[in-house]
Amino acid sequence: MTFDLQKIVRPKIYNLEPYRCARDDFKEGVLLDANENPHGPTHSDLKGSGLNRYPDPHQIEFKSAMAEFRNAESKHEGIPSKLTAENLCLAVGSDESIDAVIRACCVPGKEKIMVLPPTYSMYSVCADINDVGVIKCPLIADDNSFQVDPDAVLQIAKNDPLIKLIFITSPGNPTGAKIETPRIEKILQNWDQGLVVVDEAYIDFCGGSTAPLVNKYPNLCVLQTLSKSFGLAGIRMGITYSCKEMARVLNAMKAPYNISSLTSQYALKAIHQDSLKVMLHLAEVNRKERARLIKELTALEYVNKEPVGGLDANFILLRINDGDNDLAKKLYYKLATESGVVVRFRGNEVGCAGCLRITVGTPQENDTLVKELSKVLKELTSN
Ligand SMILES: Cc1ncc(COP(=O)(O)O)c(C=O)c1O
Repeated sequence: MTFDLQKIVRPKIYNLEPYRCARDDFKEGVLLDANENPHGPTHSDLKGSGLNRYPDPHQIEFKSAMAEFRNAESKHEGIPSKLTAENLCLAVGSDESIDAVIRACCVPGKEKIMVLPPTYSMYSVCADINDVGVIKCPLIADDNSFQVDPDAVLQIAKNDPLIKLIFITSPGNPTGAKIETPRIEKILQNWDQGLVVVDEAYIDFCGGSTAPLVNKYPNLCVLQTLSKSFGLAGIRMGITYSCKEMARVLNAMKAPYNISSLTSQYALKAIHQDSLKVMLHLAEVNRKERARLIKELTALEYVNKEPVGGLDANFILLRINDGDNDLAKKLYYKLATESGVVVRFRGNEVGCAGCLRITVGTPQENDTLVKELSKVLKELTSN
């Protein structure tokens, strides 16, 4: 395989010179270089906050700490070098990372991405927004594994040179199944016409991130977020790991101040050793509660005994009455409107007939869910 990133990234983007500001060279002094407001924020609560100043465009401290955390966790072998800040690009949540990688690689009106349904819908939404085509290769649903079929993916990708990106969600959404790394590596080793993008939004609920593999496979990009295991969906912080050449492209392309000072302040707190310990502990709590929910909910009449997909994320996917979309939809609606418990109907996704996706809540929230779901289900099936 002879991978050449210059053939994958759109030429004007590959050749972009990153935006430079005077503050890249001079950070202190009488700062009259960026047309900021010298008087500070207008609200008295915000005086002295420094929020009248533009944020740091590079975020090296956060990137280095995050790279170190992923290196320390890694059990992969044969990786030529460890992750450093130069492998990372930050974005406004993974949703911005998805958009960025599509814009970097796919020529609008011509090129395509591949998605593996059932999967996260934003890949197709972003493709549509960018006038980029979407080719589908479903996950293996008939054995309930919801794994990737690398041969099927490779066959489609190799026969269509307009496909530039393959999006793999691991663990999957809504399937909750972590994709086995050898399956991802088989695609990486046999396809050099584009990038394999592994979306690891839920990775800390099972461990085993592929992020450190970006220095082994230049055709790999890994997306992560602070929205899930780190409990910071409100700050909007997404992380892309890639080979340094691709990270340079993504950093040159991004809006220079996309990460606000407030976001970076909270993100730095999340990556403290103490916070990381809490994060991993809460992932463990989540796993226990997930097991309890499965046990209690699958014991109910009209709920299938086997959960659908895997148990690698912070949610479960349950099938109602052998794939009864009508009952599942009614259950979803009545739960939300009468019990005040909101779950997600996923019955229209490939291989998910009659399915509800349920996020694992706090123990008290889960108690409420079990009580209300069992009550509503009884009401719906009693006549
Ligand atoms: C698979 C997957 N990727 C990305 C995201 C979005 O993450 P963010 O909040 O970082 O935009 C989600 C959110 O639900 C998701 O399920």
